Amino acid sequence: MKEMLKKIKEEAMNALSGVTGQTELEELRVKYLGKKGELTAILKQMGKLSAEERPQMGQMANEVRAAIEESLAEAKEHLDAMALEAKLEAETVDVTIPGEKIELGHRHPMNIALDEMKEIFVGMGFEVLEGPEIEESVYNFDRLNTDEGHPSRDWGDTFYFTEDSSLLLRTQTSAMQVHAMETRELPIRIVAPGRVYRKDEVDATHSPMFHQIEGLVIDEGITMADLKGTLHTVAEKIFGKGTVTRFRPHHFPFTEPSCEVDVQCHECGGKGCRVCKGEGWIELLGAGMVHPKVLKMSGIDPDKYSGWAFGFGLERLAMRRFNISDLRLIFENDVRFLEQF
Ligand code: PHE
Repeated sequence: MKEMLKKIKEEAMNALSGVTGQTELEELRVKYLGKKGELTAILKQMGKLSAEERPQMGQMANEVRAAIEESLAEAKEHLDAMALEAKLEAETVDVTIPGEKIELGHRHPMNIALDEMKEIFVGMGFEVLEGPEIEESVYNFDRLNTDEGHPSRDWGDTFYFTEDSSLLLRTQTSAMQVHAMETRELPIRIVAPGRVYRKDEVDATHSPMFHQIEGLVIDEGITMADLKGTLHTVAEKIFGKGTVTRFRPHHFPFTEPSCEVDVQCHECGGKGCRVCKGEGWIELLGAGMVHPKVLKMSGIDPDKYSGWAFGFGLERLAMRRFNISDLRLIFENDVRFLEQF
């Protein structure tokens, strides 16, 4: 029996010293110390021993058990330490590796131009208005002194929704003049940016959808001088101090007198070049004194009040501002194009 206990102890120690994993360790524990284990099997035979031998063997069996238990605990500690080390190694973060670059988007050149314009006008005390793109002909034409039969109402130029031509995609932000006169108390000082639609084929300078900014000022004693002063100031803010502006007579049904405003080409100083197509001038916008009939139709007394209005094409402005040669680039949203702004 003594021999057997010795042998168990030796075997157990050997096995435990070479243990490599938690499952193997558990198997060894069961094998030696478990209810059906080798040590238990020996202890069951204690009954056969003599009275003198029994306590001796009992003590020895306890020592063997204690030794095995100790080795088990040591082996477990060792395995745990190894496992922790392996885990730490696997989870190491190399803080010196460069981070992943986050790609930020860019503001669209149109929005840059629009925000600039808004800032300029808000700074001059204008209110920014927005209105419907689906518009009644009454607002887009009639109340702007543009009667049935006027060429701009042609089906070839305008997207109508109804056979009777009463509903359309607005062709100009000028419709907002009427909304402003309807909803605002006098004096009025508004700008209204937004999309407008015309049946144009797409090319380098045309699109069936583009953006305008409308402006409208109405008060007592407003004159063409205020229009000139305001627009010249705006042109200088956009194109720089010393910018030369030119007011040319023109015709719009809803303004009288009407004009178109040009700026002298910043590239050639008026001599004529590629940028201004040899003209020396670049057309900026249409404007004029609000027609007395337009005021009257919106319930404003033209003998007491007067005003002026203007309409900018925003794409044209952005193209000038950023030297963009083709209108289509603005709408294609190619990131390689947008990244430049
Ligand atoms: N609505 C005109 C256009 O689209 C521009 C304009 C606006 C002219 C206001 C005069 C006054 O061409």
